[in-house]
Amino acid sequence: MMTLKAFKHELMEGIPNELPPAYEFNSNLNHAPKRKDSLNKEEKKLALKNALRYFPKKHHAVLAREFAEELEEYGRIYMLRYKPTHKLHARNIEEYPGKSLQAKAVMLMIQNNLDHAVAQHPDELITYGGNGAVFQNWAQYRLCMKYLAEMTDEQTLCMYSGHPMGLFPSHKDAPRVIVTNGMVIPNYSKPDDWEKFNALGVSQFGQMTAGSYMYIGPQGIVHGTTITLLNAGRKISKAGEGLSGKLFVTAGLGGMSGAQPKAGNIAGCISVTAEINPKAINTRHSQGWVDEVISDLDELCTRVRKAKKDKEIVSIAYQGNIVDVWEKFDTENIFVDLGSDQTSLHNPWAGGYYPVGLSFEKANDMMSNNPADFKEKIQDTLRRHASAVNKHTAKGTYFFDYGNAFLLESSRAGADVMAEDGINFRYPSYVQDIMGPMCFDYGFGPFRWVCASGKPEDLLETDQIACKVLEDIMQNSPVDIQQQMADNIQWIKGAQENKLVVGSQARILYADAEGRIKIAAAFNEAINKGQIGPVILGRDHHDVSGTDSPYRETSNIYDGSKFTADMAIHNVIGDSFRGATWVSIHNGGGVGWGEVINGGFGMLLDGTKAADKKLRSMLFWDVNNGISRRSWARNEEAIFAIKRAMENEPLLKITIPNTTDNELIDSIY
Ligand SMILES: NC(=O)c1ccc[n+]([C@@H]2O[C@H](COP(=O)([O-])OP(=O)(O)OC[C@H]3O[C@@H](n4cnc5c(N)ncnc54)[C@H](O)[C@@H]3O)[C@@H](O)[C@H]2O)c1
Repeated sequence: MMTLKAFKHELMEGIPNELPPAYEFNSNLNHAPKRKDSLNKEEKKLALKNALRYFPKKHHAVLAREFAEELEEYGRIYMLRYKPTHKLHARNIEEYPGKSLQAKAVMLMIQNNLDHAVAQHPDELITYGGNGAVFQNWAQYRLCMKYLAEMTDEQTLCMYSGHPMGLFPSHKDAPRVIVTNGMVIPNYSKPDDWEKFNALGVSQFGQMTAGSYMYIGPQGIVHGTTITLLNAGRKISKAGEGLSGKLFVTAGLGGMSGAQPKAGNIAGCISVTAEINPKAINTRHSQGWVDEVISDLDELCTRVRKAKKDKEIVSIAYQGNIVDVWEKFDTENIFVDLGSDQTSLHNPWAGGYYPVGLSFEKANDMMSNNPADFKEKIQDTLRRHASAVNKHTAKGTYFFDYGNAFLLESSRAGADVMAEDGINFRYPSYVQDIMGPMCFDYGFGPFRWVCASGKPEDLLETDQIACKVLEDIMQNSPVDIQQQMADNIQWIKGAQENKLVVGSQARILYADAEGRIKIAAAFNEAINKGQIGPVILGRDHHDVSGTDSPYRETSNIYDGSKFTADMAIHNVIGDSFRGATWVSIHNGGGVGWGEVINGGFGMLLDGTKAADKKLRSMLFWDVNNGISRRSWARNEEAIFAIKRAMENEPLLKITIPNTTDNELIDSIY
């Protein structure tokens, strides 16, 4: 094992003067697929020149050839030889070298995003989502860590899509790091533009929490999915009953979708999740995230009937195609209470969605050898899929789109999924019906924190502090948000038992502005008293204010402004001058390059008065910015929430919309 001294030395060294040993391919790691060859000869020359900018001339002869080979073999230049020898994981903040505690917090979070246990493709610097990059190459990692290790609280580091442009003089209240990822001129924001800019080494896809150093493993998704399921359950509850004995049918046990059965268990229902890829099933089953695996449809029906009769809480993986499940449950008259889908339909032609009637192997073969037939099969399957779902919804199933482009791709395939107006889909998305009105419009979103000491005891203590704060707040909460408060208290109480920590000692907890501020202030006080070490605050970008995404986070905005991105831009600018330790703004994210602008922040709490002032100012803005925009779009829950915020904060003055009389408008047009 490397000594602490050697670790610090390697971080401080940046790009070494001598060539490190050649890279050895580690077949135990999950590697990124070969990227599209998108550059012509002149552009390849440019990519090489761009890569060599990081290194002294004496190494160019060796590196130029090596990087050309990487470009050929992987479609990108990762500079693999420069992967550091130290282990990548979140250490105790005190182990990082440097002059700024805030900069050390950033180092900790970067290392967590690249941890082999956390990152999807660690060697290619991808944290999740296939493309979500922390850096474009290992030279950028080394240079960035060196800057962070030498900077003071009078400087700010500027990160351009993974490239550390450098340190600029600033001041102690400024962010230590400003991150932008994938920001391009709007006309150059098609997926092929990303392929090219990324291959040239000038831009990257930061996803949401990958390029902003705020990923905390699968825990975030489990919580979000649990909240979605609980609230979907309430939509179908006729007499206030819970999800006990009710059946949820869905598909996908991959990166994010794999959270569905675990969330189903926490929400207390019976879930059947179809998954075509046996490897994905094995992973989730061996992790204990899904209870049982069945590959025979008759056996599945028998098992589900028994689970319904006994009101069991159980998660079942069906090894096979989801279409077969929907069709079989229809002919067998098995009533499905809740339905959704989390296959990767944002990527339908390259393995995100599998055709029915073909084995997994045969489908993969057809995908690469006969893409035209494959596309036809996919579209046939989508039509069958939608038609089977329609039969269930006619019997009373509540079906929602899970932000995976299921309805979009089904409509493109000519499936019967359009509403009567021919403009909208016949089923809502989870944000339109559930997360938007029930959470985001009130300010509830994926607040999170990381205990920078790395100690599980600190996490336990913060869980207890957060729980107490929420219970106190709940005593005086308006009835409109009592349910959300109760869900979050239940989550935090069960968080330790659910053992969700992977990587850093992190916790996610949905909270509104009041909850986030009071929890953070209580942490800061506990740090000041020496009860716990420093804490890093952050959030997912899938939240109230940080993200403008017309088919996801802002899909429940109906005043025509859902294609604008003013909110996300205001958010990041506002966070940066109210005390964030780092801020980030990205083009891209879960729904694809060019489809969303999303931003986030990180904030170090060190127990000082200055930290207390910053957290109050920044968190208040970070949530209420989005509520104000949602309120201006005439969302009733948001109007309620922003009026309440104004009552509590006299300095907040928001423009409230006047409502119109529909009859008046209809009489004009
Ligand atoms: N969980 C969330 O909070 C959330 C939120 C928004 C959007 N999404 C979307 O959900 C989708 C899934 O994300 P992921 O990270 O899990 O992707 P993934 O590709 O890792 O997993 C999808 C899984 O679906 C399986 N699959 C594909 N077609 C199938 C079929 N016909 N029958 C059965 N199984 C099939 C695949 O084998 C794969 O394992 C993405 O489009 C993502 O954007 C998820």
